[in-house]
Amino acid sequence: MSSPIRFLMCSPEHYDVDYVINPWMEGNIHKSSQQRAVEQWQKLYHVLKDKAIVDLVPPEKGWPDMVFTANAGLVLGETAVLSRFLHKERQGEEPYFKKWFENNGFTVHELPQDLPFEGAGDALLDREGRWLWAGYGFRSELDSHPYLAKWLDIEVLSLRLIDERFYHLDTCFCPLANGYLLYYPGAFDSYSNHLIEMRVAPEKRIAIKEADAVNFACNAVNVESIVIMNKASDNLKARLAEVNFQVIETPLTEFLKAGGAAKCLTLRVTEPVREEIHATTQVESRVIRMEGHLLDSGLINRALDLIVDNGGSFKVLNFHLGEQRQSTSDAQVSVSAPSHEVMETIFSHLIDLGAVNLPEDERDAKLQPVTQNGVAPDDFYVSTIYPTEVRINGKWVKVQNQRMDGAIAITQTPKGLVATCKILRDLEVGEEVVVDVQGIRTIRKTESREKRNAEEFSFMSAGVSSERRVELVVEQVAWELRQIRDSGGKVVVTAGPVVIHTGGGEHLSRLIREGYVQGLLGGNAIAVHDIEQSTMGTSLGVDMSRGIAVRGGHRHHLKAINTIRAHGSIAKAVEAGVITHGVMYECVKNNVPFCLAGSIRDDGPLPDTRMDLIQAQSEYAKLLEGTEMILMLSTMLHSIGVGNMTPAGVKMVCVDINPAVVTKLSDRGSVESVGVVTDVGLFLSLLVQQLDKLTSPYTAKMA
Ligand code: ARG
Repeated sequence: MSSPIRFLMCSPEHYDVDYVINPWMEGNIHKSSQQRAVEQWQKLYHVLKDKAIVDLVPPEKGWPDMVFTANAGLVLGETAVLSRFLHKERQGEEPYFKKWFENNGFTVHELPQDLPFEGAGDALLDREGRWLWAGYGFRSELDSHPYLAKWLDIEVLSLRLIDERFYHLDTCFCPLANGYLLYYPGAFDSYSNHLIEMRVAPEKRIAIKEADAVNFACNAVNVESIVIMNKASDNLKARLAEVNFQVIETPLTEFLKAGGAAKCLTLRVTEPVREEIHATTQVESRVIRMEGHLLDSGLINRALDLIVDNGGSFKVLNFHLGEQRQSTSDAQVSVSAPSHEVMETIFSHLIDLGAVNLPEDERDAKLQPVTQNGVAPDDFYVSTIYPTEVRINGKWVKVQNQRMDGAIAITQTPKGLVATCKILRDLEVGEEVVVDVQGIRTIRKTESREKRNAEEFSFMSAGVSSERRVELVVEQVAWELRQIRDSGGKVVVTAGPVVIHTGGGEHLSRLIREGYVQGLLGGNAIAVHDIEQSTMGTSLGVDMSRGIAVRGGHRHHLKAINTIRAHGSIAKAVEAGVITHGVMYECVKNNVPFCLAGSIRDDGPLPDTRMDLIQAQSEYAKLLEGTEMILMLSTMLHSIGVGNMTPAGVKMVCVDINPAVVTKLSDRGSVESVGVVTDVGLFLSLLVQQLDKLTSPYTAKMA
């Protein structure tokens, strides 16, 4: 054996649960027995003394958690990084631990104020000394990890804790001798689990169940082949025995009431340095700038939340609050992420919120060539609905054809460089595509103080909207439709067959006839049932005037299809006088273009229905160009398709009786989208009535 192993402990004379700073302490204030605590601590002390030398730091009155010496600091070789406790309840322990480290010959490093790090509670050396696992998420900040790497000259692997019961890394993670790892995967986010799996071979991973985890089985002290812990299931003991570890159980129930057990009560102060290992950390940081009604619009909260939700961490460097209601605020925030990959994810979300780099950090976008038609380079930037610019040769270039889920292609034209949003299948060899998240920004209207979708959400979460609320939306939509029509603008409707079944056909027909609609998008069914209704008076076999099923009516729609097939197209059937009214009739008569996109369940289909979906998608996109408003009427499929092709700024009104559909659609929309949960036939009838009022202002006044 080389030099002896030493541990630091602190006797529990002043131990008690005096406050609540973790979920285990809740309901346990002054509930632990002093006498039992002393007995349990003594037992652990003797077990450990058998295997190693145990040093003691004197307990201090008023600092009950000082027994948990794991949180004194982190030791490697002759170096100690002193803890900076998150909670003031424990901050007073720092000077005592500092003194102990200094008196025992360690070089002590101290982190900047306000950068919490809780020592060996949140930082565990691989038992072979190959690297340091460091936790963050509750007590320690991610930004402390680069300091650990630098001061201890070791590779740091950052792991994010996500279950508040396992608030310190050592409550759910225990590296063992010979490269084994005892851990509870449920305590970590998926990125961290992935990292663990990359570094520890499957046969070396001992993943435990929740039942063992809540008994603090991972909070274990490992000395060679011995693993000391509060309690382990037979299963776990057997599992460990298979790989030659022997479990020693020693009850520590009194300390569990404070959220700690065996490992927390000890600090290993002999950790040999491996000379060939040097500092590295994957942690990246960048500073972003945001401007706008950051508070009123909730932008800053959203930005900070998304950083944390995606596994990063932040520090607000400065925040200049606009004083007047009209004045905007600006903020600079330092963002850190445990790896470049996570930083990219966080950054792509921040870009959507309008965050930009500091001018001195601005870089050109990274480009990579397309090497196969219809395929983007790995790591391509996925476009969103927001107006976007990319920086090329030091200049910001506006992206054309903005839409979501595309790639940004750069092409050289006689007029210079052009950036265009393209769907993957349209990419061509010879083009370059923006990759990574560098040199990309979205343009937000700083004047917008609206909370995105907040209104709609609160309104929809009520389940069904009140009648009054529907009326309000109808009034608004009618007014907008009128404005757009009068100024020669463009409105496109997506409609499902429910429009016809609910009696909305005649109203939609009127909208088309009166010039409110410049394009119609749907599937085979809307046209089939519309034609069934105008030629036979039924919709899916139901008599629309009497509301009852007609005998043999289910065949009607097939007859309708057959008739149109005989004529060759809807337009020809209209010309031949076979169709004399209805939605499709009005489209043909008023030269309103339509596109019917087919699907696997289509009967017929009608000769007009595009069964080539790639063609249908392009036709949809063409018809949507320049649209100011889209009315989405009871069709989830076609509305989502349309939503994907539409940039921010286009007003979307989504009407469906199913709140889930409305939520789903409004969710992907921008500030301008509105959801209405109601019967679509009723909605259209109210809309037409409202437009009538607008047409004759006198009647409106008299009413
Ligand atoms: N009550 C203490 C706290 O919340 C318990 C510390 C447990 N220590 C540990 N290394 N997990 O800080």
